[in-house]
Amino acid sequence: MAPPFSRLLVVLSFLGIALVVVESAGGGRHPPLPRYSRMFSFGDSLTDTGNAAILPVTAGGPFTRPPYGMTFFHHPAGRASDGRLVIDFLVEALGLPEPTPYLAGKAAAEFRRGANFAVGGATALDPAFLKSRGITSFVPVSLGNETRWFEDVLHLLAGASAHQKRMIAASSVFYFGEIGFNDYSFALSAGNGTVEAAASLVPEIIAVIRSAVAAVMAAGARTVVVAGMIPIGCEPEMLALFPSDAGDYYDPASGCIARFNRLAELHNRELQRALHELRRAHPGAAAAIVRYADLYGPVAAAIASPGEYGFGSSPLAACCGSGGEPYNFNANFTGFCATPGSTVCADGPSSSVSWDGIHYTEATNKLVARAILTRP
Ligand SMILES: *[C@@H]1O[C@H](CO)[C@@H](O)[C@H](O)[C@H]1NC(C)=O
Ligand SMILES: *[C@@H]1O[C@H](CO)[C@@H](O)[C@H](O)[C@H]1NC(C)=O
Repeated sequence: MAPPFSRLLVVLSFLGIALVVVESAGGGRHPPLPRYSRMFSFGDSLTDTGNAAILPVTAGGPFTRPPYGMTFFHHPAGRASDGRLVIDFLVEALGLPEPTPYLAGKAAAEFRRGANFAVGGATALDPAFLKSRGITSFVPVSLGNETRWFEDVLHLLAGASAHQKRMIAASSVFYFGEIGFNDYSFALSAGNGTVEAAASLVPEIIAVIRSAVAAVMAAGARTVVVAGMIPIGCEPEMLALFPSDAGDYYDPASGCIARFNRLAELHNRELQRALHELRRAHPGAAAAIVRYADLYGPVAAAIASPGEYGFGSSPLAACCGSGGEPYNFNANFTGFCATPGSTVCADGPSSSVSWDGIHYTEATNKLVARAILTRP
């Protein structure tokens, strides 16, 4: 447990405020700290803390059964991991309460301490739009649904008072966890591993993320953190589903699928460009802080040098699953984590980057959260 002062450092750097402010804090007068009362969050299974466990199409899925949750909660806790997610580490570092999963609450009192709108399986784009491109999604929730849910909750908390709504939004941290992975993943499956269809979605996905961020800023948000894409080509699921003999298919250093990682990097460049434009559109002293949170860098670094980060020597293998080396993931999904035939890796989840071949271990999530919190 970090002492309070180092938590202060971390929180300030999270907000992009110069550490110089902290250094002068010992000397008596110091500027008032930004204070937050709650978090509102958006995204997919990397950020979902309980919605997919309630949504009828996903309720009862593997992630609702042991060994999910084995490391931290010691029971399945609505999260697709062995323990905590990035969002759990972020709210802890900021001293905020855990936001209530949106589908777990009804009354204003349940959302006063924040709401998490992220749903496992959610896409950035609307299912109907994906269908028009020949892409099938499995969960009827997109980022559009999640932002509408936010507006409903804001109305629930503030009533019709526009002033009260702005007060609530201004005193909240907004975290857009990664969104778009499912869109790309379904498009890659529809295209049998070719990237053209998935790559053609990049501008569409960035546009919906941008308009979701613009919507919360218009509602009065002052602090918004937006996560980028993960290294798609390093996912054990992708490596198992789309093998190839082509010479330049795998990145020689990491063993990841090079073209899938280039897709993720393209997404991240375009996302950062969109956030830059949003910042420019809201200049001046009252400007909101809009921060990009890099997930790709810390995960790629852990895969490139697993030993340096405390991981074992198979960073491309799922810890929980079946099939053995190199990915411990069956392309036909038999033996998926928490289904018959699956086992947990002998060295324990903390030795693995990937928990179930799709989602990260708590150890990876902690590493990623630390990178987000300490980035200058
Ligand atoms: C999400 O929004 C669409 C309309 O865009 C709607 O058809 C669908 O039912 C919504 N999903 C949920 C879970 O409310
Ligand atoms: C999909 O890709 C695999 C491997 O490259 C190939 O054997 C198969 O024929 C392809 N299927 C379709 C429908 O294109």
